[in-house]
Amino acid sequence: MHRSVQTQRRPQFHVKHGPDGRSPRRLGRHQNEGLANHVTDVRPTGEDSLDDAARRAALLESIPDVGIDTPLGAQVATDQRRHAVISGSTFETPSQTRVFTVANQKGGVGKTTTAVNIAAAMTRAGLTVLVIDNDPQGNASTALGIEHGSGTPSTYDVLLGDSSMAEVVQTSPYNDKLLCVPSTIDLSGAEIELVTVDSRETRLREALRSYLVHRTAEGLGRIDYVFIDCPPSLGLLTVNAFSAAAEVLIPIQCEYYALEGLSQLLKNIELIRAHLNPALTVSTILLTMSDVRTNLAREVAAEVREHFAEQTLRTVIPRSVRISEAPSYGQSVIQYDPSSSGALAYAEAAREISRRPGPTTSTTSEDGTA
Ligand SMILES: Nc1ncnc2c1ncn2[C@@H]1O[C@H](COP(=O)(O)OP(=O)(O)OP(=O)(O)O)[C@@H](O)[C@H]1O
Ligand SMILES: [Mg+2]
Repeated sequence: MHRSVQTQRRPQFHVKHGPDGRSPRRLGRHQNEGLANHVTDVRPTGEDSLDDAARRAALLESIPDVGIDTPLGAQVATDQRRHAVISGSTFETPSQTRVFTVANQKGGVGKTTTAVNIAAAMTRAGLTVLVIDNDPQGNASTALGIEHGSGTPSTYDVLLGDSSMAEVVQTSPYNDKLLCVPSTIDLSGAEIELVTVDSRETRLREALRSYLVHRTAEGLGRIDYVFIDCPPSLGLLTVNAFSAAAEVLIPIQCEYYALEGLSQLLKNIELIRAHLNPALTVSTILLTMSDVRTNLAREVAAEVREHFAEQTLRTVIPRSVRISEAPSYGQSVIQYDPSSSGALAYAEAAREISRRPGPTTSTTSEDGTA
């Protein structure tokens, strides 16, 4: 499936040369030569006298037996089950727009990857989803194929009150039900610029509320889910996101120190609840980047489930090369390689979220009542 992307945008990374000046491709060929030697070694002697079937049998004999009780076998079985569950399934429309803030002040835990892939999976299943890129890095905008060069109308203009959300929202080229408020590098100045303005903590909430009202008034169709992608900090941008949402989705990386900083995050959410947004709840925790071959990943998952049994999704996102490759093509993995382990896991996580009950109250109802 991913072969088709070769006709699309080229990856934006640079080829690194090995210490001897050879490109990775040439190093790979060198390694392949070793592999070819190995394969030659396992062929029975006198292979010229064997027919194709016998040669295939000899080759199959040389492949190690991968059972369901091995990590790889288990992953294949999981993928097959997910494929069967997800193919052709549609997601239920929530009774009202559900707004999630995807937050964790720890960097690189999968916030953006989670926001864009859950959103892409939901739109693929027929829902309408808005991603608000609330991080100056603009990674969510990139992954959704959204224009976000400096000067593009963006979250920055919305927060500073220069534009309405309706004026800056863009539609992803991959799905017309996938909308995005882009972020540009200009947003990096917003934390400081907001300090002196009125209602600095609730500007995103008011902008989102107005946008949802505007869509209803214009007959544009309801947005089913909103995901706000946050920067790795607990500053004013994240406070705005917490004020605008009813639910928090916390991605937790299945690594050592995974829970470090979580109590600070939860303390901040409590403060927001007490002073700005009583409706806010941590409804969802998603375990990400799990390396199925390690005990550590299993131990972290068990510890998170012990503390947050109700909130933690059953689905665990595996570490996957396809997931990490997708952004360099300006795509989510749902777009880039929909049948890969990572895409199937995110599709299942999206389905799980859509089947869980949303909160009973909303901070941003379409009719303007909060
Ligand atoms: N399941 C996964 N398997 C492999 N790579 C992944 C996976 N999830 C995320 N990544 C990669 O890890 C890196 C960090 O992920 P991501 O950008 O989603 O984290 P983040 O929490 O949004 O980071 P930041 O705190 O900088 O905003 C990215 O390069 C991403 O492609
Ligand atoms: Mg991010």
